[in-house]
Amino acid sequence: MKITVVGTGYVGLVSGVCMSEIGHNVTCLDINRNVINKLRKGKVPYYEPKLEKMILRNIKKNNLSFSNSYKNSTQEVNIFFICVGTPENNDGSSNLKYVYDVAKSLAKNISEDAIVFIKSTVPVGTNALIQKLINENKKNNINIMVASNPEFLKEGDAVNDFLNPDRVIVGTSSKDVMSVVKKIYEPLKIKNEKIVFMPIKAAELTKYAANSFLATKISFINELSILSDALNINIEHIKRGIGSDPRIGDKFLNAGLGFGGSCFPKDIASLINIYEQKNLESNLLRSVREVNKNQRINFMKKILSHFKNSKLTNKKLMIWGLSFKPETDDIRESISIKLIKDLAKKVKKLYVYDPIAIKNSQKELNRFNNIDFLKSQYSNISECDALIVCTEWEIFKNPDMAKLKKLKSKVVFDGRNCLNKEKILQNNIKYIGVSK
Ligand code: UGA
Repeated sequence: MKITVVGTGYVGLVSGVCMSEIGHNVTCLDINRNVINKLRKGKVPYYEPKLEKMILRNIKKNNLSFSNSYKNSTQEVNIFFICVGTPENNDGSSNLKYVYDVAKSLAKNISEDAIVFIKSTVPVGTNALIQKLINENKKNNINIMVASNPEFLKEGDAVNDFLNPDRVIVGTSSKDVMSVVKKIYEPLKIKNEKIVFMPIKAAELTKYAANSFLATKISFINELSILSDALNINIEHIKRGIGSDPRIGDKFLNAGLGFGGSCFPKDIASLINIYEQKNLESNLLRSVREVNKNQRINFMKKILSHFKNSKLTNKKLMIWGLSFKPETDDIRESISIKLIKDLAKKVKKLYVYDPIAIKNSQKELNRFNNIDFLKSQYSNISECDALIVCTEWEIFKNPDMAKLKKLKSKVVFDGRNCLNKEKILQNNIKYIGVSK
């Protein structure tokens, strides 16, 4: 099938490339010339495992191309996906400018009957507004149907999520759209019941509900970690104890510094805003957000209280992990970056290391002249008083103890509960985790 995907960010690029991988003929369209030129050479503007190889393979097979031109990308194509960003406005609502701009441009260029799937995360009712906008701008003699197809791709594992989905949610009431959806996803060989059709508004809300629920699980365990810490209980036991109940499940129950990234914070803010639009209040979601914020503040307090008798302004600290989670170079809403900004004001020096997110972080942190970016994980460790782990990259989980022993104050703060506490204690290093 011939498909055009508009937007080459995390969602659009992964979706487009994966659809080419399963045999469709895909054009990825973006107005950013620079990005398109790089993608044509197989260069992905961000880090996502497996993606580059897949791009090169499918360019070679002639299944995949990249374009800046709406005119060229709409010829003889009748399936489109809109995957552009919906950033957060100051009041928490979603900025829909890019989605509307793309919808309008598509409508003006599409020359035969078509379906436009909206993959961008958009507030309830937006698909209907896009349909109206398209109807107002399209050529008279054609029919363009809008359908909702929210994405559930995790950064760092997005290719896998696309190729092995838990479910494919599609908001539509059209039988024609349903049969096209089945054909698009057919090569994935997923069971019929995994393609879930529902009304458009329900599909729009499902996306927010999924992310908000996952964020709620995280804030729940983090809230509990405050109590279990005070009671001297290891939160990992509670995770195992409740997670083994299949009704609860042990996923997204890792206590730590809290959630970040481009999705959870933004989607919660947007959902709170959607409640407000209906003159409703979501106490739960406000609390989820509050707990998340406090998690970082509490961790900061632990660091400050550990050094309470000595001057922090004389201390040098080492930080491991800058990205909002492992396997990505994305630092959007990264808790690590927020913590670093708080700490940089209080200490003499921060040495920071991340396997791939340093480049992105430099732009964000360049106003602090007491932050040094390290080329390797352990350099300068003997100058540092403490190590703070903010992102649970695999390479951080089993540190070289001989090197850790060089820390002046011999203390490790584990913001993701990802280190082996016993091993650290056996080496006479103090361990401070999140109720671990
Ligand atoms: C999330 C969802 O998991 C995807 O299903 C969804 O498609 C995507 O948002 C989106 O809306 O586009 P993502 O933001 O890539 O994916 O990352 P997650 O793996 O969900 O992690 C989000 C945050 O939660 C990270 O900061 C992570 O460190 C934190 N987290 C996760 C915890 O603090 N504890 C956990 O147990 C799990």
